[in-house]
Amino acid sequence: MTHQIHIDQTRLISELQTLATFTDAEPVSNGTAVTRIVFSADDLRARAWLKELATAEGFEVRDDAVGNIFIRWPGTQPELPAVATGSHTDAIPHAGMYDGTVGVLGGLEAMRALKRSGLHPRRSIELVMFTSEEPTRFGIGCLGSRLISGTLDPIRADAMQDKDEATLAAVRTDAGFSGSLASVQLPSNHYHAWIELHIEQGPLLEREGIPVGIVTSIAAPAGYRFTITGFGGHAGALLMPDRKDALCAAAELILSVEKHALATGTIDTVATIGTCDVHPGAVNSVPSRVILQLDIRDTDPARRESVMQAVRRDYEDLRQRRKVTITEELVNADAPAQSSPHIVKLLEETCVAKKIPYKKMVSRAYHDSLFMARIAPIGMIFIPCRNGVSHKPDEYASPSDTTLGVQVLASALAKLASE
Ligand code: GLV
Ligand code: MN
Ligand code: MN
Repeated sequence: MTHQIHIDQTRLISELQTLATFTDAEPVSNGTAVTRIVFSADDLRARAWLKELATAEGFEVRDDAVGNIFIRWPGTQPELPAVATGSHTDAIPHAGMYDGTVGVLGGLEAMRALKRSGLHPRRSIELVMFTSEEPTRFGIGCLGSRLISGTLDPIRADAMQDKDEATLAAVRTDAGFSGSLASVQLPSNHYHAWIELHIEQGPLLEREGIPVGIVTSIAAPAGYRFTITGFGGHAGALLMPDRKDALCAAAELILSVEKHALATGTIDTVATIGTCDVHPGAVNSVPSRVILQLDIRDTDPARRESVMQAVRRDYEDLRQRRKVTITEELVNADAPAQSSPHIVKLLEETCVAKKIPYKKMVSRAYHDSLFMARIAPIGMIFIPCRNGVSHKPDEYASPSDTTLGVQVLASALAKLASE
């Protein structure tokens, strides 16, 4: 029996808009500004609202010790490993309203649409909303999926601190999530398959006029924190020859990162220093300490490491020349992930059957799927976003592209759940 799957576009878009109201950002004129940092009041409100939507639909809801939310539609053989989908609802400062949310609310709508179609899935279908895909608060991305996949040590995770030196252990307890983080890990046979729907966050689909991207691999991210310590003091009285200005050293380090990332000669290497904390941070004080956070990614982790080696050679020189100390702390260095050929083929067949043009592509952004790949066969569906813009308020995906993505997701979930 084939089931007609109808996606309720009006409801989906209105839910995306409602979710965007749980924000800590001031409104802007050029889009929808969303700031939703993990375990902030807005994040907690968004979680409660999502759980209400799921409960209203009769789905089972649970959360784990780090606050990952699991929304389950039991299959006729609930003892079989489930098929799962999902993404995140946290948002970096001053972001947009589609990153992650399309995969969560789109996943929910896919499940509702399948239910409305009269499907009784053999395997259970589960939606996961991951805690802190974004690294804003604790400096490391994909916190929830790292713990699910056993990639992050639970003791190290609980000891991580935010900028106010509050530990994850304290912050999650305050948010109502207690219990050992070790209990978050799921075994590798827990899910039969995993699919994440997400905006592309790059320009290719829109540029080529293709509505669906099928991800074949996810580039490998790494994160480092540099602390540069010099000698500061009064901006008027400390003589230029006597200074060891930590910010001037940091400026050279930032440019070294850019130079070596460009020197690989491939667009597959990207490196960004996106934060710079200057101590004491006063206009009339020579900076004595600077903390930089580096985000570096590559489809080839060996090439990513060779850029780091070149940066290290430069900062050895910097240390000597500027008489500063530089310490480097590894936050994460992850391997790339490959999609499951079976799921890629199934997504291709789904697009062909629905006459939807698609393109196979690499994900340059990371996603929770990078870590779900360690415990399950994965696939990802991308939809276009306007001008390739993401992590900004003018991030936009059209209602029709969003609906099409959810349609492909729903069909794929139904097929995988019947396996
Ligand atoms: C995820 O938000 C990323 O930075 O790729
Ligand atoms: Mn993001
Ligand atoms: Mn995302």
